[in-house]
Amino acid sequence: MKVLITREIPQVGINILRQYPQLELDYRQGPPLSEEELKKAVKDADAYIPVIPDQVNKSILTAGKQLKVVATYSVGYDHIDLGTATSKGIYVGNTPGDLTESVAEHAIALMLGVAKHIAEGDKFCRSGKFQYWDPMLYMGPKLVGKTIGIVGFGRIGQMVGKIAKYGFNMNVIYNDVMKHAEAEGLLDAEKVDMDNLLENSDVVSLNCNLTDATHHLIGEDELKKMKPFAILINTSRGPIINEAALATGLKEGWIAGAGLDVFENEPEINVGLKKLNNVVLTPHTASATFEARIQMSRMVAENVVDVLINKKPPRYLVNKELTDNKVSSIV
Ligand code: DGY
Repeated sequence: MKVLITREIPQVGINILRQYPQLELDYRQGPPLSEEELKKAVKDADAYIPVIPDQVNKSILTAGKQLKVVATYSVGYDHIDLGTATSKGIYVGNTPGDLTESVAEHAIALMLGVAKHIAEGDKFCRSGKFQYWDPMLYMGPKLVGKTIGIVGFGRIGQMVGKIAKYGFNMNVIYNDVMKHAEAEGLLDAEKVDMDNLLENSDVVSLNCNLTDATHHLIGEDELKKMKPFAILINTSRGPIINEAALATGLKEGWIAGAGLDVFENEPEINVGLKKLNNVVLTPHTASATFEARIQMSRMVAENVVDVLINKKPPRYLVNKELTDNKVSSIV
């Protein structure tokens, strides 16, 4: 049975898969495959381990004639056509929970980076511009005691809240479709509506999934509702922010700064944003800790082994509808 792996991943998952002589690995370690290359590669694959830039759309899923599982090397699965996968009886597995702390740490790093002008200061020092100490240079807000508004209060959002609360004594407010009573108790957090969150937060951290409802959740109107000295952080998915509106807002001072790990048209980044000093940009590396990446590798391999060797649904299953008898008979 063939397992297609489109990018290099930590060795631990490869070692797990290699324990099974029945599995033949098609392990690509070069740059991302084009759609045509992907279609060809997936044709005779029984399992496919994609990464986020692989668009696992209908034509890829249709090309994968004997595909039984797509075990994505990510928590997010908005790059996969879930409806088509489900209708074809293809399991979709992901890597939930493995990167919660790593992404939350990165959100906090971006918050600090923007507030303390870390990237700008670094450039300033390297360029030889640091000639004398200046009391007015790179001032920014103190974060202790301020309010953080978290949009999407799942595992990662709550961890951001925890670090903000216990590390910086920040007041935590959140917006989510669900109420999270236990986390509210632990973090003294309050669920508020979106306008309230935007108007009252000194830092807004986006930690929700990308869905039709969250696409362009933050645009001109929302940015104008934020405090002029507020900071916006995005470690979830780029299209949640209207990037053109953000570039204008940062230039015109609707808000003070932004820290972005994800982009609307990744890997393209809005040219306006790239020209600004009050935005810190990182290349979708929020989960790039050794610990998270290794755990992700283990989890994708386990998802594949569950389906191809143990003949059961992947343990980290996304399309749970497939666990009924009708479809589980295909594996
Ligand atoms: C994910 O897993 O969804 C992250 O965005 C990338 O690691």
